[in-house]
Amino acid sequence: MDGAFPRDLTWFKDAVVYETHVKAFYDANGDGVGDFAGLTEKLDYLEQLGVTCLWLLPFFPSPLRDDGYDIADYCAVHPAYGTLADFRRLVEEAHRRDIAVLIELVVNHTSDQHPWFQRARRAPPGSSERAYYVWSDTPERYQGARIIFTDTERSNWAWDEVAGAYYWHRFFSHQPDLNFDHPPVFEEVLSAMRFWLDLGVDGFRLDAIPYLVEREGTNCENLPETHAIVRRIRAVLDRDYPGRILLAEANAWPWDVRPYFGDGDECHMAFHFPLMPRIFMALRREDAEPIVDILRRTPPLPEGCQWGLFLRNHDELTLEMVSDDEREYMVLAYAQDPRARLNLGIRRRLAPLVDNGRRRIELLNSLLFSLPGTPILYYGDEIGMGDDVRRADRDGVRTPMQWSSGPNAGFSTALPQALYAQPIVDPVYGYAAVNVEAQLSDPSSLLQWMRNLIRLRKQFKVFGRGTLEFVPVSNRKVLAYVRRFGEDTLLCVANLSRHTQPAELDLSAFAGAIPLEMLGYTTFPPIGRGPYFLSLGGYGFTWFELRAAPPGSAP
Ligand code: NOJ
Repeated sequence: MDGAFPRDLTWFKDAVVYETHVKAFYDANGDGVGDFAGLTEKLDYLEQLGVTCLWLLPFFPSPLRDDGYDIADYCAVHPAYGTLADFRRLVEEAHRRDIAVLIELVVNHTSDQHPWFQRARRAPPGSSERAYYVWSDTPERYQGARIIFTDTERSNWAWDEVAGAYYWHRFFSHQPDLNFDHPPVFEEVLSAMRFWLDLGVDGFRLDAIPYLVEREGTNCENLPETHAIVRRIRAVLDRDYPGRILLAEANAWPWDVRPYFGDGDECHMAFHFPLMPRIFMALRREDAEPIVDILRRTPPLPEGCQWGLFLRNHDELTLEMVSDDEREYMVLAYAQDPRARLNLGIRRRLAPLVDNGRRRIELLNSLLFSLPGTPILYYGDEIGMGDDVRRADRDGVRTPMQWSSGPNAGFSTALPQALYAQPIVDPVYGYAAVNVEAQLSDPSSLLQWMRNLIRLRKQFKVFGRGTLEFVPVSNRKVLAYVRRFGEDTLLCVANLSRHTQPAELDLSAFAGAIPLEMLGYTTFPPIGRGPYFLSLGGYGFTWFELRAAPPGSAP
């Protein structure tokens, strides 16, 4: 067991997380698929970017019909990505660079190719083997549960010829749900967890966690029985693996996600799903209100807990947590091309969502890195990679990392036809125009800008740990908030409009303090008791440290 990785128990609060697929990052053995060895080779890149935590998408044996979220063996790696020894080396090398490694715990469902399911469908009804999954003689049970993959699935039940019964699945029909009412299932989950924890991983993203348990007459989400399971998982971590964390994937309103933190005895982190579309909405409407509103309605968290913030990830930009009107607005604003839509969301990367607008990309990242929570970057967004809406499902945002303008984007030495997916080649976002090598040698590139921003964030614990107070502003196009932690007080101001905006900020609570602009170390006029005037260029943002005035000076 790798216990040597140094950390304080709340390390995740100061982390900068980077989400990637092993298959998409770098192919070291030239077979066309990214692998652990390739990712290990590129750890220096991540370290220089400033990343302190890797989140790896599923890399387990799988038929890959849901890109690995359909697991066929919980305690092994998919041979295309290397061996367990390669994985172990990746973890060791990451830890050597002070980079933690989070992996996926996908236990709501398995692949239908998992031996448990193959065994269950053949086992007699009433047997323990059969009871690993949720069976029914009719598709009428649990009608209160919604369908999640609305574009592909019509029911949460699928008929199994071999079993002669229906089985329950919240996602694709090839992903039968495990039955957490059957105690051996929980034991299996624990042993899979221990397997990876003993290999040194620093925590798990709990995939699809709200759906573990089903009960008649409910929507089968967020049930007390599900929370009881999360608490049992957490108790094992606290007892045997302190410092390892749980990150909940619960796509729900903040008040419904809040219980996943329990009394500090469930998850350490959870994604803030509803904030993300509201950031995009605020930008398009040039109005700070959607961000202020959702954060005002976000309950405080117990000690030792943290939100995970993100702009984009490997899935569609989900619009489940907005009203029907807001969804319609978002689709009109960001997905005019019907091919960009999937289920209830938009399958596009960050840069194309904002028409490759550099100032907008910077503005969105300034919010990601300064609002309360831990920022999570999606691979490739740090260089402004594009997507391809013509590809199936979410494949258009999962293309090879663009390392250089060389063959296969520098991702692999395989023949192009052997690649797991072709890199993006269009004139704007294609690898000839957008790649790491070019951006490393261009001091003005997005990549260099991201490195700077991350470096700055890491100098101030207040970003990851501070309180949030909104500052009253005379202009709704401007968002201003103060973050405080210990001695540090920061003021963050963002102009959501494309045009220059004036703003009068009510900073009277800070009268006497002197704002020091953090990117250029420029001292601004002291804050008085009246409105504080700022003007910001289109999509501009500024961060200030509010420093106490020298003794004797009058506000
Ligand atoms: C959530 C994952 O993010 C998504 O990619 C996957 O398809 C579903 N869970 C089902 O596992």
